[in-house]
Amino acid sequence: GRKIAVPEFSMIVLIGASGSGKSTFARRHFRQTEVVSSDTCRGLVADDENDQAATPDAFALLQTILELRLKGRRLVVVDATNVRPEDRRKLVEIARRFHALSVAIVLDPGEDVCRNRNAGRQDRAFGPHVVRNQMAALRRGLRGLAREGFRQVHHLTSVDEIDSAEVSRQR
Ligand code: CTP
Ligand code: MG
Repeated sequence: GRKIAVPEFSMIVLIGASGSGKSTFARRHFRQTEVVSSDTCRGLVADDENDQAATPDAFALLQTILELRLKGRRLVVVDATNVRPEDRRKLVEIARRFHALSVAIVLDPGEDVCRNRNAGRQDRAFGPHVVRNQMAALRRGLRGLAREGFRQVHHLTSVDEIDSAEVSRQR
């Protein structure tokens, strides 16, 4: 599979529509404590991982955890959709401040896969336009990722590429 070699001290930003498999990928390749997720943060501040009104506070918490982990020179994985440049700007700025290397891993199995997976999830009862809009935003921003400050960009474009990817760490 595709080999992804990340420095031990990096900020890894997962980028992908809802249902693209970000949380599954994070669980498979990283320790639970290394992953900071917008859903988990929403749950922590508002008791409900789907409470959209809690989004600003959830991201404030997410960024605080990101800063504290990077301050301790610990690897951190950001599990949120991160599909728009403005979703990513603050993350890259924080990583830069702590001299961590920014890595983008784009999970892009296709719109149908995302939509079909979400159809089977109780907690993702939104219309098809949500995934479509997320995919459109993702595509528009793909070419700009390096310019945004990501030193590695890995674009996985099928279920097979995502499932067979191998992540290793380099000192
Ligand atoms: N899934 C799957 N096979 C994979 C990856 C994911 O069947 N190879 C399923 C998961 O079990 C889950 C759904 O697809 O039910 C969505 O995967 P998830 O990792 O939760 O996607 P996310 O990108 O994290 O979605 P969200 O942004 O909504 O959190
Ligand atoms: Mg998820």
